[in-house]
Amino acid sequence: MNPDFKGHWIHGREQPSLAGESFDVFDPGNGELVGKAARGRDADVTAAIASSRAAFRSREWANVDALVRGRWLAKLGQLLERDKDRLATLLARENGKPLGDALGEIGVAARYCEFFAGWADKLDGREIPLPEGNFAVTRREPVGVVAHIIPWNYPLDILLRGAAPCLAAGCTVIAKPAEDTPLGAVEVARLATEAGFPDGVFNVVLGFGPEAGQALVSSPELDGVVFCGSAEVGVQVLHSTAKNLVPVLSLELGGKAPCLVLADGDAEKAAAGCAGGLVHNSGQSCGLRSRLIIPASSLPRVLGVLKARLGGVKLGHSMSKPQMGPLVNLKQRKKVLDAIARGKQEGAHLEFGGEVPDGSLAAGSFLTPAVFSAVQPSMSLAKEEIFGPVLSILCYPDGDEEAGLALANDSVYGLSAELWTSDPGRAIAFARRLNASHVTINGSGGFGLEVPFGGVGQSGFGREGGLESLLPYTRVKSLFLKTS
Ligand code: NAI
Ligand code: MG
Repeated sequence: MNPDFKGHWIHGREQPSLAGESFDVFDPGNGELVGKAARGRDADVTAAIASSRAAFRSREWANVDALVRGRWLAKLGQLLERDKDRLATLLARENGKPLGDALGEIGVAARYCEFFAGWADKLDGREIPLPEGNFAVTRREPVGVVAHIIPWNYPLDILLRGAAPCLAAGCTVIAKPAEDTPLGAVEVARLATEAGFPDGVFNVVLGFGPEAGQALVSSPELDGVVFCGSAEVGVQVLHSTAKNLVPVLSLELGGKAPCLVLADGDAEKAAAGCAGGLVHNSGQSCGLRSRLIIPASSLPRVLGVLKARLGGVKLGHSMSKPQMGPLVNLKQRKKVLDAIARGKQEGAHLEFGGEVPDGSLAAGSFLTPAVFSAVQPSMSLAKEEIFGPVLSILCYPDGDEEAGLALANDSVYGLSAELWTSDPGRAIAFARRLNASHVTINGSGGFGLEVPFGGVGQSGFGREGGLESLLPYTRVKSLFLKTS
């Protein structure tokens, strides 16, 4: 097979599309072709599902000792670590993120395997107290064949975030990576085969959302779907699965995370954290703190920090050790530029950034980080997810922290939030009232795969990370014995 071409990974081997079609994958840092990927359609999806179903039913998987399953998963984690340089290079090239960040992402993918491997043999049930003559226990059984629709922002992190608990529970995986970043997933599936997973347990179908993705989630042959991406497609996925009563186990959509600084909070550290968020992954993170909410008197200090951190940020190709890479493609950059233009029209003040660099960067989809002040809650900058390096600063009157909290909660989204205060009691009191599934106090990020995270409101539902993300891949069966 041509080394620049990646096929689907179905039943333990790489294969081209049945119709022989492929599509191009580009490096967003310079517009060059990185490779070609098989373009899957209904027939390829049908083949992948048949393989996955057969694997789920086979003695090698359904009846394998959970200990063995856990060891295969742990082994996959070790192989990801072993091959991290090769995988990170591929990820950096197809996504555009700096190589160092791509290496970090492979480490996270490996860690998902390690974390969930230990759970494989601990999914026990319970005995239910009943009157004499009756005995009942519950057991947890794997849901079955699960499709995973993966976005392009953290392609391998999010792939393993879903696949690792899915496999630990004894389900089989059919992953459909995003069309911008299809290549790395095939390499992960190849390593799963090397780790010992039986053929068909970890399949990958490549292709476009409306073709391979739509065909996959519309199948009545699935037992579950996991989706991460846009709200628009999330709703389509719910429609497609509803027809067949296929459960959507988790749906992770957008966010508009607030970073709320109380009067006694360190506004400068908070601003520095927000600056880091814009640079990391070029702000293309669902948990990005895109609304910095501060007491009005802090604005000059906060702007000083943001300018110092972001003014000279070094943009560049993933392999040139930049601080910040490009956006994933030109379409995404246009979406962000449109949001910036609208923000200006609506009367917000663009402090700096939002520029398209020229010269050696002109061939890539680069954009300098943009910071807006004078953002009002009614403006699109305060309401809509931009999914790029844009920060909106909203001010509340000094002394009126309730107004700050109201601004933070004034969103249809509720994924994550950040809170800054030097008083632990107030930290807990305000964190309880923030409308988000995950609140980081006095720090930036704070995401860890051991800690559940997921949607509230229009951000979706279900939890990723921790035990909470494992249990939905199981269903409870009760065994009832009449003893007299
Ligand atoms: P998208 O939602 O179209 O793509 C996500 C995944 O869904 C991809 O694998 C895609 O192939 C698949 N897909 C698309 N249409 C489908 C369908 N009808 N049935 C099944 N699968 C389908 O996201 P897109 O267009 O790449 O980005 C648009 C916006 O989505 C971004 O600007 C951002 O706001 C948001 N987004 C959010 C993410 C998150 O982490 N929550 C990740 C990526 C994008
Ligand atoms: Mg789309």
